[in-house]
Formats: sequence, structure tokens, C-alpha cells
Amino acid sequence: MTGIPCSQADPFAPDFLTNPYPAYEALRALGPVFRLERYDVWAMAGYAGVEAALKDWKSFISGEGVGLNGMNPALPRPLTLQIDPPDHDKGRRVLGRTLSPGVARRLRETFQHEAEKKVSELIDRGTFDAVTDLAEAYPMKVFPDAIGIRPDGREKLLAWSTFVFDSFGPENDLLAASRKEGLAAQSWIMECCARDALQPDGLGMMIYQAADEGEISEHEATHLVRPFLTAGIDTTVNGIGNTLLALATHPDQYRRLHHKPELARNAFEEGLRYESPVQTFFRTTSRDVEIGGNLIPAHRKVLLFMASANRDPARWNNPDRFEVERVATGHVGFGAGIHACVGQMIARLEGELIFGELARRVKTIELTAEPRRKLNNSLRGMESMPVRVTAA
Ligand code: HEM
Repeated sequence: MTGIPCSQADPFAPDFLTNPYPAYEALRALGPVFRLERYDVWAMAGYAGVEAALKDWKSFISGEGVGLNGMNPALPRPLTLQIDPPDHDKGRRVLGRTLSPGVARRLRETFQHEAEKKVSELIDRGTFDAVTDLAEAYPMKVFPDAIGIRPDGREKLLAWSTFVFDSFGPENDLLAASRKEGLAAQSWIMECCARDALQPDGLGMMIYQAADEGEISEHEATHLVRPFLTAGIDTTVNGIGNTLLALATHPDQYRRLHHKPELARNAFEEGLRYESPVQTFFRTTSRDVEIGGNLIPAHRKVLLFMASANRDPARWNNPDRFEVERVATGHVGFGAGIHACVGQMIARLEGELIFGELARRVKTIELTAEPRRKLNNSLRGMESMPVRVTAA
């Protein structure tokens, strides 16, 4: 065994989060595994190591939490994300059925109709904020409608998920700033997950049908509707926002998309690789794990830099270039292995339809002022992005 490389970097500090890519390059250069001294954790930033660890759920477990600080024993045990097999399988099966390709096909018509309405409205306005008026507005309409939750109070969804994703990092200023509003939204979120608050024909009620059939308990159903609201909104908002920024700042790539709107699904996939909404998640080693001659002892936190893996030149040609025609499949922006995003069909549907509609109807998108980043301990996204569009 060789001495393990160490880094003093703080991946949760504002300067790191503002532009993490130079730091990712330096971290990848340390080798397949290294230590982050500041947090006393191990980490991986290269594609091969991150992908392998995501798939090796027996050695890199999620059940001790996918954040730095582990699970809070006072909170109810989750039924997805932060849980290992065999307990993970039941919730995953129910969610997988609810968010299947067949369900995505049924939602397509409504999502398309909403994409047309949204793009028409924005073309009429000409100038708008591409974050609040588009990247947030579209998913915040179509996805909660599909789940079957009430229209009032939906702004709380963002406060809640911003807080949840901040809480996977350390107790820093970002987490302190999102805690109050996040916790204030919690009771509304739980109310929305209750059976009698849900529309009879939505995805939420499909979860309760699994309870009616005895597959899960009523209590478990409530806790399986909640991940829709925690994991399904801010991630998609940031995926759309980051891809929009990439298109607005790469006019040649937007022109390609405009001339070939059928590239929309691929352009969104490339957006998720290029600027991954979920930048990092932790795992915990269940045993001693040897990687490239270095030992990670058992029961240690390991930070997986998925966004860095998606920029690793050992895996991607010219990884720092945004190319709407790139074959981006294989990126780990949705994770990989047994915890790979169960909502990816829905997220891809939203991306395909909104970017397809933009591509057909909008000739140019340009920034009219400097965009502002929204910093978060796990998510990469935008606060505001003023743009002007011209109709095709
Ligand atoms: C898991 C990203 C949209 C629900 C994950 C994971 C990632 C991710 C990276 C893996 C977590 C891990 O390995 O620890 C994204 C991105 C999205 C998106 C980038 C949008 C662009 C959605 C949507 C839903 C959703 C629309 C709908 C409900 C979930 C759930 C899990 C998950 C429940 C946990 C799966 C499990 O543990 O088996 N997502 N997600 N996500 N995602 Fe997504």
C-alpha cells in the first residue's frame, strides 16, 4: 500500500461551488482515490472509480446516509435512496412501476401541451428570466400535476428540496441559510403526501394502490410519495436551467438544435453530463476496500464526485465542450447501479419536450445580463438568468 494522496480542498465552500471544474481536474490528478483532510473523508473524482463505486452497493452502502453526517436516528427510516437491499427493493419496486416508461408515455401528451403553452407565452414576452419563468415554471407545473398535488403553495417545494440537498453537506452557511424556510415547508410537504390530499388519477395515488393491494403499508405509501417532492423537482429544475445556460452561451450548439429539434432529448442528456444537477453524494464503506493500491478502511465516508466523473477526459473526448450531438449516455448524472435515478424517464420526458418546443419555435436565445448561480451543497443550478428570445 502507498501513502494516500490528500487534498485540502473544501468542495462545499462558495468559491469551489461557484466554478468547481478546475478543482475537479486537480482532484482527478491525485489518482483514483484520495482523502479530503478537512472533512476526514475519502473521495473519488474519476469516472472509472465513481461509476464502479456507485455500482458496488455491497462495499459502498447508502444505508448510513448519502450525506456527510450520516442518518439522523430521530427521523423515520427512509424507504429509498438512503437504504440498502433487501430493504431497498420493496420501495424501489413500487416507485419503479409508478415511474415506468409506460407511465411516461401516458404523460407525454399533457407535458407536450404545457410545453407549447409555456413557449408561446415566453415568445410573446420576448425577454424573461429563464430560471423562474421557464426552468422552474415548467417542471413545477407538469410534475406536481402528474403526482396529483394541490396547486397552491408549490413554491414551498423548492425551499424544501434546497434544504434537503444542502443537508447532505456540512453544517455550513449554505445549510444554515436554507434550514428555516426548508423546515417551514416540511409540514405542507407531508400534508401533500397524504392519501386524501391527492388527486384520484395521479402518480401519488398509484403508490396508495400498492398499499391497497397489501404490497406496502399505508404509512410506507406516505413516505414513498415524499421522494417525488424531494428528489423530483429541484433536480429537474436545475437540469433544465443548466442546459438552457449552456445553449444560451453556445450559440453554434443552439443553432444545431434549432435546425434539428429531434436532438432535444440528446441535448438535455448532454446538459446533464456537462453541468450535472447532482454534483456529489456520499457512500459509506461496509468493509476495507482496496483501490489502486490504497486502502479505504471499513465504515468510512466516501464522497463520490459524479459531476467530475462526467468531465473526466479518460472517459470523454473534449469533456469541457458542450456538444448537443455527443453520445452522452453512460454519464453518471442520474447515478448508476441499484440507486440510479428512478425518475429519469420523467426527467428526460420534461427535457425532451421543453427543449424540443424551444428548438422548433425559437431562433435565438441570448443572455441580457450576467446569470446568477444558486449555490447548494449538492446541487448545481441557477438563481437567475435574464434572456431574450427571437421567434423562428
Ligand atoms: C436517485 C439525479 C429527477 C427520484 C437519483 C440519483 C441521482 C439522481 C444522481 C442517485 C442517487 C444515489 O445514487 O445515491 C436526478 C436528476 C434528475 C432527477 C439529475 C433530473 C434531471 C428525478 C425525478 C424523480 C426522481 C423526476 C421523481 C420522483 C429519485 C429517487 C431516487 C433518485 C426516488 C432514489 C432511487 C433509489 O434509491 O433507488 N436521482 N434525479 N429523480 N431519484 Fe433522481
